[in-house]
Amino acid sequence: MRTRPLALIGLVACLALTAAGTAAAAGGGFEPVSPHSPNDSRIDTTYWFVFGFAVAIFILVEVTLVVFIVRYRSRGRGREVEGAQVHGHARLELLWTAVPVLILVAIAVFTFYELPGIKNVPKATAAGNQLDVKVQGRQFYWEFLYPNGAVAVDTLRAPQGRVVKLDVTSPRFDVIHSWWIPALGGKIDAIPGNTNHTWFNADSGTYPGRCAEFCGLLHAAMTSQVQVLPAAQFQTWVRQRAANPTASGLGRETFQGTCAKCHGMQGQGGVGPALTGNPLITQPAGITKLLENGGVTMPPVGRGWPKSQLNALLDYLSKDIAKQGSGGG
Ligand code: CUA
Repeated sequence: MRTRPLALIGLVACLALTAAGTAAAAGGGFEPVSPHSPNDSRIDTTYWFVFGFAVAIFILVEVTLVVFIVRYRSRGRGREVEGAQVHGHARLELLWTAVPVLILVAIAVFTFYELPGIKNVPKATAAGNQLDVKVQGRQFYWEFLYPNGAVAVDTLRAPQGRVVKLDVTSPRFDVIHSWWIPALGGKIDAIPGNTNHTWFNADSGTYPGRCAEFCGLLHAAMTSQVQVLPAAQFQTWVRQRAANPTASGLGRETFQGTCAKCHGMQGQGGVGPALTGNPLITQPAGITKLLENGGVTMPPVGRGWPKSQLNALLDYLSKDIAKQGSGGG
């Protein structure tokens, strides 16, 4: 009789370990993505620290449960007969009060130790070594404004190995969005008329993210990515984008970020009406007004844009989208 509960416990433990091992090996959706910025490393460390306690408590509770089910089963005792009565156990009661308190204290201390490194932008080691980018959450795209006047939509290019500070906000006429690139840090809300800050310092690579606050019909289309480039490559890009927005592809980028999500990638229509063949496409004044004021269900996507961005989009619409309406060319 003594061997059976032990065998059962062993079986349950093996199953749990196998499942956990498989999940961990495959990522399994349980693990956070690998961090690529110091603040995200700290979030990751905190996650695993808390997870360790959670796993230990889970195993303790489940094993105890199984042991008690087996050990204190009725063994043919009549249903009306009371089982063995257990009365107070001072030492045990003290233990199960004190241990959880200690665990909570440990988690709190650890979290508050990691928090400043997650929240605070690190002091730049040398003056001018930090890049400030203004990030605007808009229905339904991300707008990035660089200090030199460069503008980008949905893809944030950044230099490798440099602190990039993000001032995240949303226009007063817009709604709340949430900036989230899992590999580069936690979520930060883009609140109309209020500016929040976050930062990253990443190695080169492309890190996908998405808006993490339900913000309307096209919330799911509000994806973004951070492209971290070698310093020289970034400098080249940011100079070209500021000097010649149209030639550097801002028109296409703006179209894909702000128009295509509703009107189709080629302007063929979708949630919104088709743009191809629409006479408005070739009327800059009309489009400008529509972008500025929005339509019946269309948000004012272009309100507050720098002139350079508006011109780049108008150029793209008249050259690339209008042509498709007239059978390509
Ligand atoms: Cu923006 Cu969801």
